[in-house]
Amino acid sequence: MSKTPLKIAVIGGDGTGPEVTREALKVLKAVGAKDGIEYRTQDFDFGGARYLRTGETLPAGAVDELRRFDAIFLGAVGHPDVPPGVLEKGLLLELRFQLDQYINLRPVKLFPGVETPLKDRGPADIDFVVVRENTEDLYCGVGGFLKKNTADEVASQTAVYTRKGCERCIRWAFEFTRRRNNPKKMLTLVAKTNVLTFGHDLWWRTFQQVSKEYPDIKADYNHVDACCMWMVKNPDYYDVIVTTNMFGDIITDLAAVIQGGLGVAAGGNINPDPGGVSMFEPMGGSAPKYTNQNVINPIAAINAMGMLLEHTGYPRSGERVLNAIMRVTGTKMKGQAAGKMGYSTQQVGDLVCEAL
Ligand code: IPM
Ligand code: MN
Repeated sequence: MSKTPLKIAVIGGDGTGPEVTREALKVLKAVGAKDGIEYRTQDFDFGGARYLRTGETLPAGAVDELRRFDAIFLGAVGHPDVPPGVLEKGLLLELRFQLDQYINLRPVKLFPGVETPLKDRGPADIDFVVVRENTEDLYCGVGGFLKKNTADEVASQTAVYTRKGCERCIRWAFEFTRRRNNPKKMLTLVAKTNVLTFGHDLWWRTFQQVSKEYPDIKADYNHVDACCMWMVKNPDYYDVIVTTNMFGDIITDLAAVIQGGLGVAAGGNINPDPGGVSMFEPMGGSAPKYTNQNVINPIAAINAMGMLLEHTGYPRSGERVLNAIMRVTGTKMKGQAAGKMGYSTQQVGDLVCEAL
């Protein structure tokens, strides 16, 4: 499914977003030259600064314009002068929903040389993937207020789950587990069936049904609270996790910490359907206090670029990027936190290019 030229929309976004995006593009240029990938990029200035200037998060027609690309690369959104929720809902979630990116894919891999807060654990122990449903649940914005700002105020926020929504995510996760072909060959559903006896019952029944089509994959289940415990105690237990949007949001931050933090963690918002446009992003936010200091870690962004290549028909180039990252974390970098890498943002980008 590789396309020539590969058309990538680039949203550098806020804070340190543009800085880490620059390094990811540098690596794309280097790997593109090596592997003969023809590509075009186009910049979009969506984010907090534009919102403060124009009052809009996504201008009219923007989503349709983005649909014409093969993939989107997103640096970061989040601006200290913009109230919480505006950019998250108006930009990031809006793109996820409108482009129907129903899979949020989060590889959790501890790279060589990267420190994990888990005692006596190394890269062999932390290597799993979270498949998070990305369009439903508490994220769909169903709810409201009654008697707002009175002593009798009522607020409701409703989780919405559909058969179609959970089935397509679960089926994709089974397929992914099969393709990944880890010796464990195990897909763990993470939910809360003992309390969420409607919504997560739908997930549970759907998971059981779909699992019958995949006799080669072990269908496993954890309650979300237990999952948080196991992820810390026995991270080597997991192969692939499939979970709901809200729980997926929470457990992937826990997972990011055990894989070395937001400086390395990357994710993909994937629409796997034919013609679907997927969006790849480093997990760290816009980190306003580190903006333009050349100290932020670009590894997560470079990792996201590797994922972009993997999912747009260049899996060997994606793997090459991942291997280059691991050489740099394993042999060069002193740490992964901003300002503690032993190198500047740009130097880390250069090191990855050299390692290619
Ligand atoms: C993530 C982020 C987003 C989410 C926020 C920024 C809306 O935390 O991608 O995990 O909650 O999904
Ligand atoms: Mn999150």
